Amino acid sequence: QQQRRLISRQRFIQDFSQCLFEFVVQLLPTTEEMAVKEDVRKLLERLIRTIEPDSRLLSFGSSANGFSLKNSDMDLCCLIDSGERLSAADLVTMVGDLLERETKFHVKPLPHARIPIVKLNLDPSPALPFGIACDIGFENRLALENTRLLMCYASVDPARVRTMVLFLKVWSKRRKINSPYKGTLSSYGYVLLVIYFLMHVKTPPVLPNLQQMPPLRPISEEESHLNGYNIWFFDDIELLRQRWKSANTDTVAELLIDFFKFYSRDFAYNTAVASIRAGLLKKEDKGWATEQSDIGTSRERNRLCIEDPFETDFNVARCVTKDGLYTIRGEFMRASRILQSRPDRAILALAQLCE
Ligand code: GTP
Ligand code: MG
Repeated sequence: QQQRRLISRQRFIQDFSQCLFEFVVQLLPTTEEMAVKEDVRKLLERLIRTIEPDSRLLSFGSSANGFSLKNSDMDLCCLIDSGERLSAADLVTMVGDLLERETKFHVKPLPHARIPIVKLNLDPSPALPFGIACDIGFENRLALENTRLLMCYASVDPARVRTMVLFLKVWSKRRKINSPYKGTLSSYGYVLLVIYFLMHVKTPPVLPNLQQMPPLRPISEEESHLNGYNIWFFDDIELLRQRWKSANTDTVAELLIDFFKFYSRDFAYNTAVASIRAGLLKKEDKGWATEQSDIGTSRERNRLCIEDPFETDFNVARCVTKDGLYTIRGEFMRASRILQSRPDRAILALAQLCE
């Protein structure tokens, strides 16, 4: 009977992997959607150049890191190459006015946000049944770099990494635990949790640590640093594909099951910081455990700690509240329970997970 159970578990794992691949493929953006978005980017770039002729408008976030789903919003970053330029707040106001006049977008400039942005929304139309939501930021070069880092991790092992990340993005949205504004975690945070798990929890690791690999040639301080942060990582993907072969042969289903198990019972939420750069760190050692700080209580902002790969003094999960973390952990446990409970049909387990 034990052997029969083992065989049926193996069959479930196999089917569940297959279901995950099929589920994720149908959620990818269509070529048309990507083409329309690229046209929008070009149009916006052309308009912004009437204010700042030396500017470029670049995609970051999911549209550029290999983790995009159908109808996901566009994150755009405006870089200005000339020496003299307006402040980000002034640019937001001016670009906001311009786009309000010249386009059909609903425009909302936020010049005084921590990172000043212009928010744009296009109403749904027959060609674009979900409309377009887009944020334009200015000079946010670190976001461009962390997008490139995530993109490199996505391309090291696309079958497993992209499938896991895309599934978790859908799952966290359907389970309503993907809203930093409401006290839960951003997509960026979930991606870092997946990479941390694949690199520092699984043995043998599924992913190499690109930030700790030796460079192929000496790198100057000027090349490796941006705003005082070390942004260097091994980014020669072609070479990496030739050289890196993970000894870990787990299927995507096995990895996902272990992911839920790890974050529902093994991760030390009270004391630990997940760092893809450096592995498991302690809140205490980063000064993230103290009761009080100059901006509100630091404990409240550091319930869940995920170190940004470059801005190492920045907790990507700072928006997660006590209730938010309780809900997120409850969801990890629920998912783990569903996958442990010997479901006999993989497709039903997947549907139940994302209910
Ligand atoms: P969806 O919008 O849900 O499709 O996911 P996304 O991959 O675009 O992620 P998200 O919107 O959460 O973040 C977009 C990009 O903004 C990320 O890839 C990062 O480059 C950047 N970003 C988001 N949150 C943070 C943060 O807390 N710190 C830093 N440094 N960058 C962030
Ligand atoms: Mg986004």
